[in-house]
Amino acid sequence: MRALITGSASGIGRATAHALAASAERSSLLLVDTAREKLGEVSRELEARGHRVETFACDLSSPAEVEKVAARAEDFLGGIDTLVSNAGVLANAALVDLTLETYELAFAVNTRATWLLAKACYPLLKVAQGSIVATASISATQPTPPHGSYSASKAALVMLIKQMAFEFGPDGIRCNCVSPGTIHTGMTDSVYGDDRLRAERAANIPLRRVGMPEDVASVIAFLASPAAAYVSGVDLVVDGAVSTALMPTLRKGAVPQ
Ligand SMILES: NC(=O)c1ccc[n+]([C@@H]2O[C@H](COP(=O)([O-])OP(=O)(O)OC[C@H]3O[C@@H](n4cnc5c(N)ncnc54)[C@H](O)[C@@H]3O)[C@@H](O)[C@H]2O)c1
Repeated sequence: MRALITGSASGIGRATAHALAASAERSSLLLVDTAREKLGEVSRELEARGHRVETFACDLSSPAEVEKVAARAEDFLGGIDTLVSNAGVLANAALVDLTLETYELAFAVNTRATWLLAKACYPLLKVAQGSIVATASISATQPTPPHGSYSASKAALVMLIKQMAFEFGPDGIRCNCVSPGTIHTGMTDSVYGDDRLRAERAANIPLRRVGMPEDVASVIAFLASPAAAYVSGVDLVVDGAVSTALMPTLRKGAVPQ
C-alpha cells in the first residue's frame, strides 16, 4: 500500500494513516499537514509498526506547495495506490461577518487543494490503477452555522469528486468521498470535549454517540480497498444517522410528545 494522506497530523487523517497502514504488512505512507511536530509523532507511531513513512509539512492552500507534495510522492512512494485528501478548515464566522480571506481559505484548503493534488498525482494514480478518497462532510448538504463558507466548500468538493469519478474512471481510477458528521477531533473538541455538550449532541444522534476518528478511517480504508473495486462517484455518509434526524428533532422541540 502506497498512500498519500493530507491532514494526517491529527483526527480523521491520523486514524486513516493507521487504518491504511494496517491493510498491508509493510506500507509506504507520505503524511502531509501544516503541523510539523504532530506529523513527527504519527510518523514515529507508524515506523514502530514497521511501515515506511515520510512527512511533509506544508500549507495546502498554496498551489505551489501542492505541486511539491506531488513531487515528493513520486520520489518517496514511486507511485500512489491511495490518495486521501482529508485536510480541512472551518470558516469561523456567519456570512455577514465573514472576511474575503476566510471565505477563500475554506475553498482553497477544502476544495481547490483536492483538485490540484488529484491533477498532479493523476499520472501516478493511472499507472497504479489507484483511488482517491476525499473527506467531505454532512455540511455539504446541511448549512452549518456559524461557519459561513464551510458548507459551500464541502458541497463543491462532493461534486468535484463526482466529476473526477466521471473523468478518471476510464483510466481505472476510482474517486469517492466520505461525509462525516459529529466526530470528536481537534476540530470539534470545543463542543465534544465538554461532557455536557457531548451528551446533549449524542441524545439527538440515532446511534446515541458522538463518532470517533476511527469510525471514519475504517470507511476510508474500505473505499480505498479492493473490496470497493466497483465503487466510484459515491459520497458515503458516516454520521450515526444524525443527518436523518432533522424532522424528529424539530417535532420534539415543537410539539410535546
Ligand atoms: N470532526 C468532524 O466532525 C468532521 C465532520 C465532517 C467533516 N470533517 C472533515 O474531516 C477532515 C479532517 O478533520 P478532523 O475532524 O480530523 O479535524 P483535525 O483538525 O483533527 O484535522 C484536520 C487537519 O488538517 C490540517 N490542515 C488544516 N489546514 C491545512 C492546510 N492549509 N494545509 C495542510 N494541512 C492543513 C490540520 O493541521 C489538521 O491536522 C476535514 O476535512 C474536516 O472538514 C470533520
